[in-house]
Amino acid sequence: MNVRSTLRDRLAAALEGLAPAADVAALSELVVPSGDPKFGDYQINAVMPLAKSLKRPPREVAQELVAKLRLDDLTEAPEIAGPGFINLRLRNANLVAALTAALGDERLGVAATAQPKRYVVDFSAPNVAKPMHVGHIRSTVIGDSIYRTLKFLGHTVVGDNHIGDWGTQFGMIIYGYKHFRCDAEYKQNPLAELSRLYRLVNQLVDYFDTREQLPKLEQRLKEAEAALERARAVAPTGDKNADKKAAQALKKAESDVGNLRGEIVGTNVKLAQVAENETLAKYAIEHPQIGSAVLAETAKLHSGDAENLRLWKEFMPPCLTALQETYDRLHVTFDESLGESFYHDQLAAVAEEFQAKGLARESDGALCVFLPGQETPMIIRKKDGAFLYATTDLATIRYRIERWNPEAMLYVVDHRQSLHFEHLFAAAKLAGYDQCDFRHISFGTVLGRDGKPYKTRSGDTVGLKGLLDEAVERALKIVSENDDRKPDGAELDEARRKQIAEIVGIGALKYADLSQNRTSDYEFSYDKMLATTGHTATYMQYAYARVRSIFRRGEVDVDALRKQTAPIVLESPAERALAVALLRFEEALELATVDFRPNLLTTYVFDLANAYSTFFDQCPVLKAPTPELRTSRLMLCDLTARTIKQGLALLGIDVVEQM
Ligand code: ARG
Repeated sequence: MNVRSTLRDRLAAALEGLAPAADVAALSELVVPSGDPKFGDYQINAVMPLAKSLKRPPREVAQELVAKLRLDDLTEAPEIAGPGFINLRLRNANLVAALTAALGDERLGVAATAQPKRYVVDFSAPNVAKPMHVGHIRSTVIGDSIYRTLKFLGHTVVGDNHIGDWGTQFGMIIYGYKHFRCDAEYKQNPLAELSRLYRLVNQLVDYFDTREQLPKLEQRLKEAEAALERARAVAPTGDKNADKKAAQALKKAESDVGNLRGEIVGTNVKLAQVAENETLAKYAIEHPQIGSAVLAETAKLHSGDAENLRLWKEFMPPCLTALQETYDRLHVTFDESLGESFYHDQLAAVAEEFQAKGLARESDGALCVFLPGQETPMIIRKKDGAFLYATTDLATIRYRIERWNPEAMLYVVDHRQSLHFEHLFAAAKLAGYDQCDFRHISFGTVLGRDGKPYKTRSGDTVGLKGLLDEAVERALKIVSENDDRKPDGAELDEARRKQIAEIVGIGALKYADLSQNRTSDYEFSYDKMLATTGHTATYMQYAYARVRSIFRRGEVDVDALRKQTAPIVLESPAERALAVALLRFEEALELATVDFRPNLLTTYVFDLANAYSTFFDQCPVLKAPTPELRTSRLMLCDLTARTIKQGLALLGIDVVEQM
């Protein structure tokens, strides 16, 4: 049951005739859960803004609103507090009825949405041929949670993994394969060898790019130094404004010089890494044109060159197998995995369609879509005839709309691609795909302790597999220590401990990511994510396991309990607070899907686990004073465990019966 949505409807009805018609919808949103149970369970905050627009005293408006509110079947009499807040307290009878219904319901009383929509969720989408790294965790985990939640709410959802399987990285490994491969290694572990080739070629290409940049950087430094000297020479004029401006200019000139010097040092370090390594230096001398050669290999692949196509077909299976291993371990699935290569033969037609409709025209030989309100055009065909990432995305939109006709398309992709999506969505609208709501579900970066993107000590990006392994290894230590400390002796054998550690370790990693506001950067820390108390999956998994252990100790017949008709008793504040928290599950799911923010769901599960913890401390369950109370509390326990389990499941996180 979604209490908040019912309250909103009632509030909207009461505002009718009192508030200007145009404001009713926005004002009726202003009913929120109370911060403190002292003030009831919900609070209406609509009075102040309404009184302001009506230019009437707030308390008077509050009284009038209260008189018009029809809530008797749901809440106690509303109370006006302070300058005009309206506090609402749910009637216990309603709480009990809703929870009893939830107890016997597989969906825990969560109704399917009244307005089911068709969604496509584009998530994970790694560029294959290089191993997945820490940066891929966010799209995968956030996208998976959005996918699961929308589905649970009754929407039709297609999860599509738009794999990067056709880009320049293939030009790199094809070039690497042709020139640097080690056959023995390739035979033994093709993926490892392909990754090595990718890294090698990438480093060499980067070396030449950087070397080319260096003189330009040095020139810019010279200019910046000259500017600094000029700024230093400016004599004070006595005019306050002018002097202030001069001081600012000096500061800027100083910082420009500092930045450029830093950049040049970094560049020289990078160059030295190649120049001072015997093998790399030799390769650099032998392959001076590697940058353009890689592009040529990519272009050959794209134009159907038999040899490159054969290599591509040979490289793909090991890449996809490795990818699938990661998804299996993360329990992430897709309905479709239509990678970039899938759209390859549609690109020319898409470009022509844009041109034919007058939406794109040539500029400097490149085919460009000029977008209203955008400074730069979107290039969909380069001068040399090559198509781009954007062209593929346009073809993808066309395909998805024809196949699924979705009402919304969500792209769970790094914030650095914002401009790409802004352009893409604008172009899609121009092309007439304006019935679909396109959304970039953007997210921030995973940072190391130094506040910079998370890297290994040697400066490489951190591989996802290593990350999972380490989280699981640390979880195993925690699970084992906890088990060894049990008062009646350890309960788990080694195999069971390992199973639990896999679930706890991966759950911790996912939760740490999902509990962040997705648009923020966050700092990666194993210690924090595996803490047994606090805002972690481990804490929720403990809460769940604790309930399960009560049921085992009390030899409770769960099926019979769920069919109970005896009323749930809400005598103590802790029981009542837990009941209110349980009832908010549907509301939390709604909230988490408004702007597709799984952290609003983690917050809910955390609040629920806390409410349970207080209840558990204050209300004996198996030793409850009366059999009625024991049954009632067991009912609350069962609901809590199931709500935590379901909530975590929608985050893609499993629970364990014992920890
Ligand atoms: N493969 C891309 C990358 O790693 C992400 C693709 C996202 N999806 C899309 N339809 N563009 O940057």
